[in-house]
Amino acid sequence: MERREFVMKCGMGCLGVLASSLLLPGCAGTRYVSGNIQGSFLSINEDDFLNEGDYLKHVVVQNDALQYPIVVFRLGSDNYQALLMKCTHQGTELQVFGDRLQCPAHGSEFTISGNVQNGPADSALRSFPVIKEFKTLKIDLS
Ligand code: FES
Repeated sequence: MERREFVMKCGMGCLGVLASSLLLPGCAGTRYVSGNIQGSFLSINEDDFLNEGDYLKHVVVQNDALQYPIVVFRLGSDNYQALLMKCTHQGTELQVFGDRLQCPAHGSEFTISGNVQNGPADSALRSFPVIKEFKTLKIDLS
């Protein structure tokens, strides 16, 4: 292989890797935020979704008192969906990839509504009501 051909192939390969990393939603990164627990409510701020003038589709909320994190999807300015990131198959912590949650243990997938998309899990994720009070999002853990 000539030098020029080698450089062209390497350049095209690098462009392919760059393009695929931009297109894969799982590579976009997940924002983790700390929630405050008061009574039976876990609270975060609506601004936790802000990212360079736009809103993230989801954030993952953590608190030392929680055994599993909770993902909160922003479906609209007053419409949020909160799901416990615990696989209903055998309890492995889930990962968020774009508009679904995946289990790294045996491959179950869940929709952002918490419904099973692919097994072996056969029941929906635990979900929590989200109440918006001004800029505070209160996740009802009761
Ligand atoms: S623990 Fe999640 S699929 Fe088995």
